[in-house]
Amino acid sequence: MEPVKWGWVGDAHIARAHVIPGMMKSDLCNVIALASRNPEKAKGTAEKFGVEKIYGAYEDLLADPEIEAVYVPLPNHLHVSMAAQAARAGKHVLCEKPLALTADEAKTLIAVRDETGKIIQEAFMVHSNPQWLRARELVQSGAIGEVKAFHWYFTYFNDDPENVRNMADIGGGALYDIGCYPVTTARFILGAEPKRVVSLMDRDPKFGTDRLESVMMDFGNGVQAGFITSTQLADHQRATILGTKGRIELTVACNSFVDRPNTILIDDGSELGNLSSKTETFPIFDQYTIEAEEFSKAVRGERQPVTSLEDSVANMAVLDAIFNSAQSEAWETV
Ligand SMILES: NC(=O)c1ccc[n+]([C@@H]2O[C@H](COP(=O)([O-])OP(=O)(O)OC[C@H]3O[C@@H](n4cnc5c(N)ncnc54)[C@H](OP(=O)(O)O)[C@@H]3O)[C@@H](O)[C@H]2O)c1
Repeated sequence: MEPVKWGWVGDAHIARAHVIPGMMKSDLCNVIALASRNPEKAKGTAEKFGVEKIYGAYEDLLADPEIEAVYVPLPNHLHVSMAAQAARAGKHVLCEKPLALTADEAKTLIAVRDETGKIIQEAFMVHSNPQWLRARELVQSGAIGEVKAFHWYFTYFNDDPENVRNMADIGGGALYDIGCYPVTTARFILGAEPKRVVSLMDRDPKFGTDRLESVMMDFGNGVQAGFITSTQLADHQRATILGTKGRIELTVACNSFVDRPNTILIDDGSELGNLSSKTETFPIFDQYTIEAEEFSKAVRGERQPVTSLEDSVANMAVLDAIFNSAQSEAWETV
């Protein structure tokens, strides 16, 4: 397959630390350009990755005819406008999560995709992560019986006022930043949509962002999923899938290691304290390399995008309902 020529807009931490290094490992990706509002600052990043072209305006990168696909790691409030602009400039778009701030906003990208014929995909790397794919396979095979409950803890501590996560007016807060993962993986694992949600949200008095939330999602038929997410608690990431005959746990549920093997734990519950658990170990992988490769294959028509825009809109609809429930202090229909 001819490698896809990539550019990215915004000298973002996630790009520098994870996504671009992941792309660089792949023969299917050729990263050739970076655009930044501050090209002087971005020079170091471009040099580090051996990227030839640096643009001082995002629009200039979009106008480069050599670039086929654009990766968008901008603050959340800019995702939809930049994705639309890039697609209209003739580029395929891999856009960071959350795709939008609301389901209605996300929906507008469906029209853009249909009008331009370009792929627009939310960068939910969990959807092609081997740990999550294996967990879903085990659930679908009945390995842990009937699955009735799903739960995540996903927390970290970041109270830096300069960080985009702590800026309410540009889409900061825990639900957008990390709550989107339990929502999407619950839907992915359970293969269903929540019917209603209830949430309790605590906001930071200075930032106005949601810094802690507890959420319950009712999938109907006695199936429940929940999560606790926070931007101001000690680092922790654990997802648990509970069935009638056992449970599956991902103890590093989002930031899979890239330099050592990842695992999942399967336990039939016959002994407490993990004494009856088995660990499955995966050969070393980089979930961002896989994400970029799957997207590149979609660009070449070798597969459908891993995450459809319709799926992203459905995910955003759950986030909308969670925000509504925090305000109404009642169950909200999705
Ligand atoms: N998939 C994942 O694993 C993952 C992990 C972390 C974050 N993310 C997502 O990636 C995105 C970026 O997160 P990040 O932590 O990397 O953010 P970041 O380091 O603050 O980068 C955002 C970049 O956007 C550009 N930008 C344009 N307008 C801006 C504005 N008004 N304020 C601040 N920056 C602005 C800046 O680049 P220039 O100045 O160079 O133009 C900035 O470097 C978010 O959507 C986040 O949800 C995804």
